Amino acid sequence: MSIDDVLAVARAGLRRLTPAEAAEATRNGARLVDIRTQLQRQTDGELPGAIVIERNDLERCLDPTSGERLPEATEKDIPWIVICDQGDSSSLAAASLRAIGLRNATDVIGGFQAWKQARPIYLDHNATTPVDPRVLQAALPYLTQHFGNPSSSHAYAAEPHRALERSRTQVADLIGARPEEIVFTAGGSEADTLAICGLRGRRGGTIVTQPTEHPAVLQACRSLEDQGITTTYLPVDEYGRVSPDDLEAALDERTLLVSIMHANSETGTIQPIRELAAIARRHGVVFHTDAAQTAGKIPIDVDELGVDLLTVVGHKMYAPKGIGALYVRAGTQLRPIIHGGGQEGGLRSGTENVALAVALGTAAELARPGDDLVRLRDLLQHELERLLPGRVHLNGHPTDRLPGTLNVSIDGIRGRDLLAAVPEIAASTGSACHEGADTPSAVLSAMGVPPERALGALRLTLGRSTTEHEIRRAAKLLAERLTSSSRAAVTTPQEAR
Ligand SMILES: Cc1ncc(COP(=O)(O)O)c(C=O)c1O
Repeated sequence: MSIDDVLAVARAGLRRLTPAEAAEATRNGARLVDIRTQLQRQTDGELPGAIVIERNDLERCLDPTSGERLPEATEKDIPWIVICDQGDSSSLAAASLRAIGLRNATDVIGGFQAWKQARPIYLDHNATTPVDPRVLQAALPYLTQHFGNPSSSHAYAAEPHRALERSRTQVADLIGARPEEIVFTAGGSEADTLAICGLRGRRGGTIVTQPTEHPAVLQACRSLEDQGITTTYLPVDEYGRVSPDDLEAALDERTLLVSIMHANSETGTIQPIRELAAIARRHGVVFHTDAAQTAGKIPIDVDELGVDLLTVVGHKMYAPKGIGALYVRAGTQLRPIIHGGGQEGGLRSGTENVALAVALGTAAELARPGDDLVRLRDLLQHELERLLPGRVHLNGHPTDRLPGTLNVSIDGIRGRDLLAAVPEIAASTGSACHEGADTPSAVLSAMGVPPERALGALRLTLGRSTTEHEIRRAAKLLAERLTSSSRAAVTTPQEAR
């Protein structure tokens, strides 16, 4: 939109700009004013080139009597385009700008939320979550002024040491553990590997696991084969769940460890960990659960679950990548896999990454494990079912499932092709580790989902910032792609063969 067009719109005051018009006008020289809170800017992103007015400063900035007007407020003849967090406040702000003499001020329909829609809708929170700005703020000082090594004996160590121990307590509190039972690691894969390969040194024996585990668990088990440690894979049912009876039957005096994940990252199916761990305990066998996808999302209490080892992952709960933790119940026999200075109770040598530990601790404290995403997740499923009647099939357990995870197969398409044809949505067909593969997901195959249906799977995973508007729009975009004339762009599994 040219500057003249915007001027005409603003002067006539008849309508507000669409996000696309506003974007074009700012490229043509209109001034953009961003009126959001700092937190919103950090969460949703900056508007390049915009003049920022702190939301809380708005009144003072635009008060004609205060003398604290915008420094740029002399540029009266150019168009001013106002973007707020919500549509209504942006029209009020535009009116205030007009009141202080910027007669060409106008605003954008739908405010920042509409503007944001220019970005793909993020429905891949099981792959990774954005870093919560509060987590970032908490961590930053440990990369700058509090840079000391927490193990040093001088003054620079004091604050990093305090922060590390506070973070340990925060992570412990999230899962009902004691701080001394938390070992910080460089992520989930390392925590899983420590839990499993920490058995190193024993010869012979068996690990019992199941086929829908993350590769970090499956490969760690495989790596022990040359020590004569074999792996037993329990079958899973149509929902991806292990049966307690099968576990009971698999355990014997050779069993060293049971490792069964808390919830699956592709389907969200939650395993009956309490029952499974109770069986292992009766047999005196150590029980590990990979809680990468549940920590921070659903309530966890290690005593209630009865587990001995539990993996926590930062980047699935709004902390950065490269930080995780392993809960190690007091008295559990484990050997380190990384050797050195004996940090982390001797189980994980290496100078602790204090900033990332603080990030994980803060994320743990901010986590509100619960069902708040269930409504939006179910809305997404119902919308897809409504728009594509008879073609949508749920993968995973209907109720014992992560609040934000929806895995559905859609008849007659390949999930991968559909997602490629809908760039407005960022989602996946399976775990990030499987992305790009042209084979059915191993998780769905283990559940007995036929290859054709497994290839039609979409994993749509929601997070804290997901809105109802995004959910309705995502369902519409997917369905439109499948029902419109451009449908030919999406190959069916049969055609693709
Ligand atoms: C269930 C599960 N376990 C382990 C991991 C690995 O965690 P990280 O990426 O921190 O190594 C992931 C991450 O994708 C996961 O989903």
